[in-house]
Amino acid sequence: MRLLLLLGILLLPTVASPCHFPAIFNFGDSNSDTGGLSAAFGPVPWPYGETFFEMPAGRYSDGRLIIDFAAESLGLPHISAFLDSVAANFSHGANFATSLSTILPQNVTLARGGYSPFSLDVQLKQFLQLRHRSRAVFRRGGVFGHLMPKEEDFARALYMFDIGQNDLTALYFQNVSATPYLSAALKELSRVVQVYERGGRSFWIQNTGPLGCLPYVLVRVPPAASRFDSSGCSILFNALAEQFNTMLNETVAQLRKHLPLASVILTDIYSVKYSLFRRAASYGFERPLRACCGHGGGAYNFNADVWCGDTAEVDGTRVLLGKSCRKPWKRIVWDGAHYTEAANKWVFHHISGGEFSHPSVPLSMACGKKTPTT
Ligand SMILES: *[C@@H]1O[C@H](CO)[C@@H](O)[C@H](O)[C@H]1NC(C)=O
Ligand SMILES: *[C@@H]1O[C@H](CO)[C@@H](O)[C@H](O)[C@H]1NC(C)=O
Ligand SMILES: *[C@@H]1O[C@H](CO)[C@@H](O)[C@H](O)[C@H]1NC(C)=O
Ligand SMILES: *[C@@H]1O[C@H](CO)[C@@H](O)[C@H](O)[C@H]1NC(C)=O
Repeated sequence: MRLLLLLGILLLPTVASPCHFPAIFNFGDSNSDTGGLSAAFGPVPWPYGETFFEMPAGRYSDGRLIIDFAAESLGLPHISAFLDSVAANFSHGANFATSLSTILPQNVTLARGGYSPFSLDVQLKQFLQLRHRSRAVFRRGGVFGHLMPKEEDFARALYMFDIGQNDLTALYFQNVSATPYLSAALKELSRVVQVYERGGRSFWIQNTGPLGCLPYVLVRVPPAASRFDSSGCSILFNALAEQFNTMLNETVAQLRKHLPLASVILTDIYSVKYSLFRRAASYGFERPLRACCGHGGGAYNFNADVWCGDTAEVDGTRVLLGKSCRKPWKRIVWDGAHYTEAANKWVFHHISGGEFSHPSVPLSMACGKKTPTT
């Protein structure tokens, strides 16, 4: 036994070994919100969650998100929302993402149809607070020892980022010019160095998806900009997403220079999601641009006034207006703005191997050679 172990250790340097991430810390928007906005501002309604959790689970999908598949593939439980004071367990990480989060703080509040107050700067503050306070809480022992990350886990954890999509709609619909806004946003994103300064070494950053293929944007394309590609996606909004992604790529290249001990992986989720829309049928999906859960039928089955899960009083009884479709497992778009579990699973399957990442490293090895693996 001991000999075998020794042999294993001797062989290690020649064989790339997985990282064994003990925790995930995630920053983002609804694409990775596992219950943050829901804990703060009221639960997500049924039929959200119907496919996997069989009840609403704080996620803007019928089931699991990419972050859930990532956690599962790394052998970790799903990651608790930092804001969830009822059932949170941070022993394997924390999720600071909330739906409607932006990189730059916005002026329009949620109550006025605006954005989440938990923009990236606030999410970073929350992380710093958890980082700072968890040591003392952990030391209290007992149940607390089983609810907090271990001190050494902060250096070994995977730090994930998927944020920017709401900045694109915010800047566009507020008539803000794109380049200066995006420069400021990416400068803000660079403040992830704060995570590095506190020991974080493994970063997995996703670029933003093809915004112009999502019904909630498609219904708002102004007539003057109504050009669509052969997949039916808005050329203007996809170009905006691509501009963000090009600038993000440059920002990440700079980050790598400034964070010499880190592994900073950038994954081109845009290309993966776009090919899913483009060749939906060949991947077993149908009606790619149509929301599964929505109201109104038509090309997109999306009505901004009646969202998935919305109800109304009809003849004295409460009826569900924003209903799910018959086969969510064959759909890409869940509620007009978010992806189905089936699409998330497909996308995760395609990005986890590293083919769409730069550098091209599988997620399980995203810690790079400079981070201790034991
Ligand atoms: C918010 O308002 C301030 C003051 O009017 C302005 O300087 C800033 O650019 C606005 N921010 C956004 C994101 O629109
Ligand atoms: C928190 O999760 C960890 C890992 O799954 C588990 O070992 C621990 O018992 C949980 N803590 C509590 C208080 O349930
Ligand atoms: C942006 O510009 C359009 C067209 O000029 C105008 O209709 C709209 O009200 C403007 N939106 C804001 C938030 O200023
Ligand atoms: C991103 O930047 C890298 C260099 O850091 C370059 O090799 C790659 O082609 C760029 N990708 C895109 C899509 O711009």
